[in-house]
Amino acid sequence: MEKYTLITGACGGLGRAFVKMIASAGENLVLVGTSKSKLDDLIKENKEQFNSVKVLDFVCNLADKKDRLKLVNFINEKNIQINKIINNAGVIIEGDMIKFEDDEILKAVEVNCVGTLDLTQKLIKMRDENKKFEVLTVSSLASSYPMPHMAVYAATKAFLTSMMTALAVEFKGKNVVICTVCPGGIPTTKEMKESIKSMGLGGRLSAASPEKVAKVALKGLKKKKKVVIVGGFNKFLAGISKIFSKSFMAVVVGNIWKKSQSKRKF
Ligand SMILES: NC(=O)c1ccc[n+]([C@@H]2O[C@H](COP(=O)([O-])OP(=O)(O)OC[C@H]3O[C@@H](n4cnc5c(N)ncnc54)[C@H](OP(=O)(O)O)[C@@H]3O)[C@@H](O)[C@H]2O)c1
Repeated sequence: MEKYTLITGACGGLGRAFVKMIASAGENLVLVGTSKSKLDDLIKENKEQFNSVKVLDFVCNLADKKDRLKLVNFINEKNIQINKIINNAGVIIEGDMIKFEDDEILKAVEVNCVGTLDLTQKLIKMRDENKKFEVLTVSSLASSYPMPHMAVYAATKAFLTSMMTALAVEFKGKNVVICTVCPGGIPTTKEMKESIKSMGLGGRLSAASPEKVAKVALKGLKKKKKVVIVGGFNKFLAGISKIFSKSFMAVVVGNIWKKSQSKRKF
């Protein structure tokens, strides 16, 4: 069976960087996104790079259990072997928890936590146990501490970092490598660009381009690291969060975040 790397959120800012790097490494791809037209555009844009690899695409709302099953069935029907999954899709919601409609909060939890866990488990079960299987999950520096005013998003990412780190140990010696990457800001969307800008020097020091994040993440996966924090400043911030109590960190981070949000244009 031919080997493929599956990338969720392939059409997003960071997803595109992963797609380019994986294709240039000569790996076949299953691109997963929420819109057929976005996937078609992505394939058109990378036409030359995709000349030397096989590319399949599939529309899947990761928040939907039936859609996740359809994706698994698609893989079975194509008779291909997924040997690497990049869990990159994520819903970034920011602001006070009370201001969101129920659906927005549930969607973030369903995509970031439930969808990622369910798809990862299904694909691990389908692996060839004699061959290496790799899981790279995009979490966030936000998983290092509680984040008032961005509480739901940070908690979904804390779930991911905790779960994937535990699974990395659970699967030790079983041909499954599990790595979680925790970037700071990535200027992928206009909201994230504005967010990084409003954080001033700290925001600039914490930020990294999608290309840099993808490169560091794939290097960490290759080195079989359980958790990869992107950038020296972010490693320092993650280190501090281990020294102080979660309650203390919540107060400090909450103040910084509130100040930054008040400076935003949107
Ligand atoms: N930007 C940052 O500052 C930052 C920092 C740390 C971590 N991250 C993480 O990095 C990852 C990529 O984010 P990004 O910055 O590249 O943002 P982005 O451009 O908005 O990409 C997010 C991706 O998630 C996918 N997605 C959203 N809802 C989905 C659903 N219901 N089902 C399937 N896919 C869904 C989107 O797919 P479609 O495009 O097909 O709709 C999109 O490609 C996320 O996990 C995010 O949490 C981002």
